[in-house]
Amino acid sequence: MLSMYDPIPIGMNEFQVRVDLVMAYRNLLAGGVPDSGKSAFLQNIGCYGLLCDHTHFVLLDGKQVELGLFLPALDDDDIFVGPDLDKAIRVLKRLQNLITKRSDWLLERRRRKFTRYDPVDTYLVFLDEVAFYSTAVGTKEQRNEFVTLLRDIVSRGRYVGVILVAATQRPSVDVIPKSLRDVFAYRAAFRCMSKGSSDIVLGDEMSAQGYDAADIPMSSPGVCWLLAENGVTPSKIKAAYLTDDQIIHIVDFAAWTRRTGRTDRRGLRKAASPFLNVA
Ligand SMILES: Nc1ncnc2c1ncn2[C@@H]1O[C@H](COP(=O)(O)OP(=O)(O)OP(=O)(O)O)[C@@H](O)[C@H]1O
Ligand SMILES: [Mg+2]
Repeated sequence: MLSMYDPIPIGMNEFQVRVDLVMAYRNLLAGGVPDSGKSAFLQNIGCYGLLCDHTHFVLLDGKQVELGLFLPALDDDDIFVGPDLDKAIRVLKRLQNLITKRSDWLLERRRRKFTRYDPVDTYLVFLDEVAFYSTAVGTKEQRNEFVTLLRDIVSRGRYVGVILVAATQRPSVDVIPKSLRDVFAYRAAFRCMSKGSSDIVLGDEMSAQGYDAADIPMSSPGVCWLLAENGVTPSKIKAAYLTDDQIIHIVDFAAWTRRTGRTDRRGLRKAASPFLNVA
């Protein structure tokens, strides 16, 4: 099995060199106009995650169809949330609870983070369309609660195996407040309508330094400015692309490996470590 602690192949840079991302201890924010390639980018990470050992999924997808392809591979430990803000908030609270329990566990052992050798599962949280939950549905209080929970999970989750990958069509301050953006270590700016939107994703004044996603042509879906490695200078990449058929193929394969990986030789479910439970 693959591991979330290893580099994930994500695309090619301008020199045709493969670009990898290590998602462990990191969160990622992708922003850009509709059809710029955000969901395809998330699906690359998702498909890799499906093939990883000890990885669970929390999928929040307002549109349902972007991450819905993964549904057949999910089991009882995974969660799928459609266009339901109440459920999204409940799920984020459970994750918050999990993060607190895991942090307590580390503290008791005088440690600061989990490594690949710990018997702890990684939770990959995908949020496709932040704006749907943070601006489109529910009351103002619910939306504020959602953003506050999100900020907490992004800032505390990464060392305890909770990784958040989020996408938004509308990189604007009302959807992604600066305080939220700044806690994402990795940022991918796909085609944006303005320098301002590009800066919302990459960081203040990035467009003035030449890193401007408004320059990416609409005819180039999958091309983005990726702020990753050194966290200072973005590089332009073309994301890898999986067709729906390829995703379905991976999902079907993962449905089988994930099921057999969680059962013992008699076909019974293996018990999870008690402090992982998020009830
Ligand atoms: N890396 C890529 N290489 C080639 N084509 C791509 C790539 N990524 C996306 N595309 C094309 O662009 C289309 C739209 O991509 P995608 O659904 O990922 O956009 P999106 O940014 O998520 O849009 P929306 O905001 O509407 O959800 C895809 O159906 C595909 O045809
Ligand atoms: Mg999309």
